[in-house]
Amino acid sequence: MQFLTAHQIQEKFLKFFESKNHLIIKSHSLIPPKDDKSSLFVTSGMHSLKKLFIGQEKSKANRLCNVQKCLRTIDIDGIGDTYHNTFFFMLGNWSIGDYWKKEAIAFAWEFLTQELGLSKDNLYPTYFESDMPDVPTDIEMHKIWLNYLRPHQITGLGKEDNFWSAGPTGPCGPSSEIYYDLGKNKDWCGKCEKPGCSKCGRFLEIWNCAVCMQYNRLENGDLEPLPFTSIDAGAGLERITSVIQGKDNNYDTDLFRPIMDEIAHLTGKNEQENLNSFRIIADHIRAACFLIADGIRPGNLDREYVLRRVLRKLIRKQSLLEAKDDFLTKLADKVIGLYEEWWPEINGNKQMVIDVISAEQEIFAKALERGIKEFHKTVEKIKKSDHPHRNYLTGEEAFYLYETYGIPREIIEEIGLEIGFMSVPTLDFQNAVASHQQKSRESMAGKFKGGLSEEGDVWKKTQFHTTAHLMLEAMRRVLGSHVQQKGQNITDERIRFDFSHPDKLTSIEIEKIENLVNEQIKKDLPVSIAEMSVEEAKKQGAIGVFEDRYGDKIKVYSIGDFSKEICGGPHVERAGQIKGTFKILKEESSSKGVRRVKAIFKSRQFVDT
Ligand code: GLY
Repeated sequence: MQFLTAHQIQEKFLKFFESKNHLIIKSHSLIPPKDDKSSLFVTSGMHSLKKLFIGQEKSKANRLCNVQKCLRTIDIDGIGDTYHNTFFFMLGNWSIGDYWKKEAIAFAWEFLTQELGLSKDNLYPTYFESDMPDVPTDIEMHKIWLNYLRPHQITGLGKEDNFWSAGPTGPCGPSSEIYYDLGKNKDWCGKCEKPGCSKCGRFLEIWNCAVCMQYNRLENGDLEPLPFTSIDAGAGLERITSVIQGKDNNYDTDLFRPIMDEIAHLTGKNEQENLNSFRIIADHIRAACFLIADGIRPGNLDREYVLRRVLRKLIRKQSLLEAKDDFLTKLADKVIGLYEEWWPEINGNKQMVIDVISAEQEIFAKALERGIKEFHKTVEKIKKSDHPHRNYLTGEEAFYLYETYGIPREIIEEIGLEIGFMSVPTLDFQNAVASHQQKSRESMAGKFKGGLSEEGDVWKKTQFHTTAHLMLEAMRRVLGSHVQQKGQNITDERIRFDFSHPDKLTSIEIEKIENLVNEQIKKDLPVSIAEMSVEEAKKQGAIGVFEDRYGDKIKVYSIGDFSKEICGGPHVERAGQIKGTFKILKEESSSKGVRRVKAIFKSRQFVDT
């Protein structure tokens, strides 16, 4: 295996696929196409190509490839480990209605073994082994891999690993991924011999080399066949580079090493003693430079808020490392220098990048200092209160620091953890935001997750959201446990809810469901949240969609003993906070086997009089 720089790997990739008749296309900006509301950022190369896969737009060529700038916020709080980054480069190749599985695997194999010189003994591909009712095991893919490797190197994995889509709806299909065996090193769990182990990082996923695009996931959750089959493939440049350069993490590759060295140089701090902070800084400064260069500015909503969080985290780290005021701008300069040859847009926007970072620093650095002082004052007050041993902030206390000093919640938690405080429960914090919203009627909806639309009254939507959990459970009790949520849209006026059920609901069934929901509201059941693994959630009988890539921990919301459902929140604290009487207004067919209801609250007053 020959040493290659990341840039050389990228060039080899493009040349290789060009030689296989792929047209090299430009990276899309980090901002998704206007009409794609499925995520805040471009999270993979195919993101901007979705319409080509579903036949809504015609492609310039039926074989494409590129290097795409991507940003995934899913891991943002976990940055600091060896192989995750918020911002990364993805090497992508696509067949739009052209080649299929056999050719996709042949290309990936040739590129890895011949162009990059990886040993086949270290390559461990996977194929889709079905755990989905509507998609069969990809036997064909398994057979293809047997032409290249011995059976023990080929693993079947389920939907969580081997069924891919960019977002909840749109083109998708079973996939094949190639893992690299890093060997039985210090991080090995001591047991696993194949990919799919959640305990260790022995097998590193380096290439999702064939997403076999053959379905379109509709809003109601159904899969409909695509008009033609396509291939989507994506490989993280950072990870491939780490393998080629023989490093056990992304930060020791030439994509990051100069940034890590510059952090040490500018702060005078030792990298090993501050490894986590160094990695977060290196990851976030790169993300910030590319976000700003793509025209994003820090703000309080959506993608602007993500940039703000990233910048504020950097400013906090700067303060922790006692770095000089110009630390971040000097570091940004380094990042720009490192990437400008391949990514002219960051050089073209260099002054803008520096100015935006400086401006955010100006707003936040002092506020952070004052906020930290306020935090300590709060701690002193707690010590003198009736509960002197309380080691947590209430949602209201945390929200005050957030609202007054602009300190993002995760930084409040970080400051707390340093003095032995527990994290602020998500539910409490969201409730504080929501009740503030209720009072001030300002729009802060951008901070919420969980499928809520962004306008309107968040507190009302929060009530509907909890009601939707009650309704789903009530439906399962009245109609049977086959009922599953197939889609949901909540405004501040109504819930629209799709669910699997073969028949029209009778008026008696509707009444039973309404009564069950209203009884739980009347009982004022407490809403609680717990974080757990998918396995644990399943064991506890939680319902909900398990198939998304949730990472290690998922949130499970319980409403008394009545309902237990996987969800990102937000929810009310007690069912009694739901104001009004629940009523199903309309029931109709949504698609085959899926029914749709629209439900509202009648005001209490109306019912009582
Ligand atoms: N587009 C394939 C992936 O991101 O894994």
